[in-house]
Amino acid sequence: MRLHKTLLASSLLTAALTFSCNDAQQNANATTTETEAAIAAPNSLKAAFEGEFTIGAALNGRQAMGQDADAIPVITQHFNSLTAENIMKWGPIHPEPDKYNFEPADALVALSEQHGMELIGHTLVWHNQTPDWVFENGKGKPASKAQLLQRMEGHIRTVAGRYKGKVHGWDVVNEALNDDGTLRQSKWLTIAGEEFLEKAYRLANEVDPEAELYYNDYNMWKPAKRDGAIRLVRNLQEKGIRVDGIGMQGHWGLENPSIAQIEESIIAFSKLGKVMITELDIDVLPNPSNRNGADIDATFEFDEQYNVYTNGLPDSVQQKLAQRYADIFALFRKHSDKISRVTFWGVSDANSWLNDWPIKGRTSYPLLFDRNYQPKPALEAVLQPVNKQANAQ
Ligand code: XIL
Repeated sequence: MRLHKTLLASSLLTAALTFSCNDAQQNANATTTETEAAIAAPNSLKAAFEGEFTIGAALNGRQAMGQDADAIPVITQHFNSLTAENIMKWGPIHPEPDKYNFEPADALVALSEQHGMELIGHTLVWHNQTPDWVFENGKGKPASKAQLLQRMEGHIRTVAGRYKGKVHGWDVVNEALNDDGTLRQSKWLTIAGEEFLEKAYRLANEVDPEAELYYNDYNMWKPAKRDGAIRLVRNLQEKGIRVDGIGMQGHWGLENPSIAQIEESIIAFSKLGKVMITELDIDVLPNPSNRNGADIDATFEFDEQYNVYTNGLPDSVQQKLAQRYADIFALFRKHSDKISRVTFWGVSDANSWLNDWPIKGRTSYPLLFDRNYQPKPALEAVLQPVNKQANAQ
């Protein structure tokens, strides 16, 4: 019964929101001041934040290939920036030494061009989703430093080279830091040493001098990691190596990190270049340990007690999520002079990786659109302050 009410309430809200959007469009020719104010109010994320920052979404392979018909209208209405959730990562795009799989990424490029959206390349150098052969010598032993750096060079030349002039910016290196700000003991570091960082950015710059080059990581609100990221980027910049901006992955919770913690990092990173909120999603599910961040290897066995909303999100949590999104967007707007892009990690709850991480097979609700690509109250909470402002003008 309670569940039924929750579902009913949320479909009414959805209906009201959809109706008000359609209504504003249908009345486009009416002349009353009130209607004009309603028309002035943006009904899409990209319109709402135009002039402040672009609004991105990570697309999965099916969406990139146009195989998810319901996704396209939402993507084109709300987003003006696209990121490949997986299809440009080393494993999917370069699974074997001489084998590249460009088809899905090419489709994403075409989609972004067709709709005039910026495309973000994710990612050239990462310790995850990178095949073992990259780090091996072909005989089951670790690759030598020269071998590994040569492979990296070939990869960057081929992938960034193919998408030269098409990619607005590259996450050149992803997640090279531990939470304490020291360099992660990845195979990149242990085999090639710190030089891999320098080489990656130098090469990306050489191959696509017009593309912006970013460093991207999670838990960037943590003071020690923030300092580590600043050290990493500043060291490169001081050597004359181009790093244009820092991506703060927004894999956050309902309560943590605090707005103040996020704000401190936005301000600190802005001194080095552009700041982007990448990979935004708010986890509403309970987790076995006080997890934060997004280490994709930190997983737990399935346990029903952590899969608490299989029949829908209770209203109270829905409202909490909406408020959390309102608060973080208020912060982003306050710093829109520093933030160039806000990218959601997925379009709808159905596509979110949080259904499978850190526990596989859960029902998660981290985004602004529900499993049927319908707007959630959180979307309205993000748009409403902008609408109010538009109406007041
Ligand atoms: C995730 C994808 O969303 C999943 O589909 C995949 O199985 C694992 O990787 N940090 C990143 C992203 O930089 O690339 C990760 O994406 C999430 C954490």
